[in-house]
Amino acid sequence: MSRSMGNYTRLGVNVDHVATVRQARMVKVPDPVEAAVLAELAGADGIVVHLREDRRHIQDRDLAILRQTVKTSLNLEMASTQDMVKIALEFKPDTVTLVPERREELTTEGGLEVAMNLEYLKKVTRLLQDAEIRVSLFINPDVDQVKASHRVGADAVEIHTGKYAEAKIRQEAEADYQRILNAAKVASKLKLEVVAGHGLDYRNVGRIARIPEIVEVNIGHSIVSRAVMVGMERAVREMKRAIGGEV
Ligand code: PXP
Repeated sequence: MSRSMGNYTRLGVNVDHVATVRQARMVKVPDPVEAAVLAELAGADGIVVHLREDRRHIQDRDLAILRQTVKTSLNLEMASTQDMVKIALEFKPDTVTLVPERREELTTEGGLEVAMNLEYLKKVTRLLQDAEIRVSLFINPDVDQVKASHRVGADAVEIHTGKYAEAKIRQEAEADYQRILNAAKVASKLKLEVVAGHGLDYRNVGRIARIPEIVEVNIGHSIVSRAVMVGMERAVREMKRAIGGEV
């Protein structure tokens, strides 16, 4: 739970990288479904998964079970392809976040080119909304993309914070922060819900969450990374006990 200037900022926990560890061995653990339950118990306001075309981490099975078990809100990140739209209409997540997707990328590297794909995105957005799915567009902090998202009829925009998060020098971070702030203000004026995500961690999230227009942040890698570290001592102690014959 986080509060900023009296406003409540929702936290969506992305569990993709729990599945990344599982897929490294193609076994059943760690299970992103179990991680989602624990995240909700700890106060997550929503669970986020990215079902990628190459299924490198989250699998269709995860989405099917999460749809049954998530008690807060399920946000499916996906490319706007016909195959993915079919899957979204079948599983009906609460929200679909449309993202660009390139097979060779390590993670989602940029925002959607909304203005250039206006008619197609309008059609996809309408189809999803007709099935009562909220539609959010993942965009760079760029006013033209915000305005195009409004024209598409999206319910929300998720502003890409990756550049801000990865900025090596203060001036760069400051310039990116101002772009995020400006995009958030314009989006809010256009009655779009404003979400932020990508690259956010324990150090850089505060400044973003304090932007009053931003009502939700979606965070994955830093939370999963921290979970591995805070859990390591206990996991080793338990293994030592198991070696000693105790369980
Ligand atoms: N939002 C979107 C649209 C993303 O694609 C991702 C990465 O899957 C995230 C948020 C979470 O980013 P990170 O794992 O860096 O916290």
